[in-house]
Amino acid sequence: MSVQEYLDKHTLSRKIEDAVNAAVRAKTSDPVLFIANHMKKAVSSVITKVKARQILDSRGIPTVEVDLHTNKGVFRASVPSGDSSGTYEAIELRDGDKGMYLGNSVAKAVKNINERISEALIGMDPKLQAQIDHAMIDLDKTEKKNELGANAILAVSIAACKAGAAEKEVPLCKHLSDLSGRANMTLPVPAFTVLSGGNHASNNFAIQEIMILPVGASRFEEALQWGSETYHHLKAVVTEKNGSMGCNVGEDGGLTPDISSLKEGLELVKEAINRTGYSDKIKIAIDVAATNFCIGTKYDLDIKSPNKSGQNFKSAEDMIEMYKELCAEYPIVFIEDPFDKEDWEHTKHFSGLGICQVVGDDLLMSNSKRVERAIQESACNALLLKVNQIGTVTEAIEVVKLARDAHWGVVTSHRCGETEDSFISDLSVGLATGVIKAGAPCRGERTMKYNQLLRIEEELGEQAVYAGEDWRQTL
Ligand code: PGA
Ligand code: ZN
Repeated sequence: MSVQEYLDKHTLSRKIEDAVNAAVRAKTSDPVLFIANHMKKAVSSVITKVKARQILDSRGIPTVEVDLHTNKGVFRASVPSGDSSGTYEAIELRDGDKGMYLGNSVAKAVKNINERISEALIGMDPKLQAQIDHAMIDLDKTEKKNELGANAILAVSIAACKAGAAEKEVPLCKHLSDLSGRANMTLPVPAFTVLSGGNHASNNFAIQEIMILPVGASRFEEALQWGSETYHHLKAVVTEKNGSMGCNVGEDGGLTPDISSLKEGLELVKEAINRTGYSDKIKIAIDVAATNFCIGTKYDLDIKSPNKSGQNFKSAEDMIEMYKELCAEYPIVFIEDPFDKEDWEHTKHFSGLGICQVVGDDLLMSNSKRVERAIQESACNALLLKVNQIGTVTEAIEVVKLARDAHWGVVTSHRCGETEDSFISDLSVGLATGVIKAGAPCRGERTMKYNQLLRIEEELGEQAVYAGEDWRQTL
């Protein structure tokens, strides 16, 4: 090909002339940089390579990180992992070789990305999230993503989403809002874990967590301040009542004193809230995670006290009575998984009482079929959104739509095994879920999410709206 033919083929002269004209029109002080950027923008972005690696999550257990390369940059994402896993959620692919990370390494998932997924996505436009996600779903061909691994697919899906936002030159939350077809973005109310128990801590508390929600704050920044202050007051309260050992933290950063009853835990939290001076502006929520202490049809609230276990069995009816009393005494706005994950009947009965919002986590496993069933049976009235139980951004948006159409609340959630990725922060704003649950206002992998929300609020400026008292919003 001659020089002239090459120039003609790529219409180079015209493109350069356009760029120079644009620089002159803009009267920019740095025309070379302006021209370089102008020309870069004129090229549409495509995925050129997807490269994965194994990293550690916050529990020190392997997980997947991916670098998605486009011809414009490199976009990184990593996926979390949880304690609870159920038959209805997408499969996290682990190698199972007991000699490697006790069976938890993710080399197969990494290999699947580096070979099969990378090959399938090269040349695709990162803005087309649904096409990318469906290309991976088609490649996997299984219902629960066990062929490639939901951990492999989700890491790529999130990285592509970040690349799509960059290509559009909009914040990630805005790109997510566009993908979901929603017009309004909202800063969520943070549900800070302040006391941890259940599978997340080694104390004797059977309940998984008690959270605080600063619904009366005027901005997210203020909510974070109140959350942090309450957390530190709680440290003092726990030290006074249970000694400083009670201030060790659980997997999600909550304090872990030995607590003999849910009421005792709520008293500690109430005292801490009172000390902040924002009393009626901070509400309380509980993740019971009751599946973890359900024995047959009974609930063993002393399951973690070896000498007492089995002596304080409660029936589901007893649990309902306990919830009723506690909701009357404390400002409890939602209870997550109040019963076993297969106890639809009592969850439905309790929801029907209308005492507080009932959030389905283990009950739903973020699975669209379970969500549909729960909507039909009015079993609960809010979705706990765990993206890694679904496996792609597109399907996560669809599940949120299902919940929204049923006028449910939505709580965007972290997992106990987290990474330094703050994708869920942007997701909660873009999908306007109203609440985000990302652990305590402490520990890097948790504060990462809250700090990102600070940045988003700052970036949105005047347009930033904090969900506040409207945290249940279903618009
Ligand atoms: P996980 O659950 O421990 O399975 O991540 C967190 C939660 O129940 O909210
Ligand atoms: Zn939960």
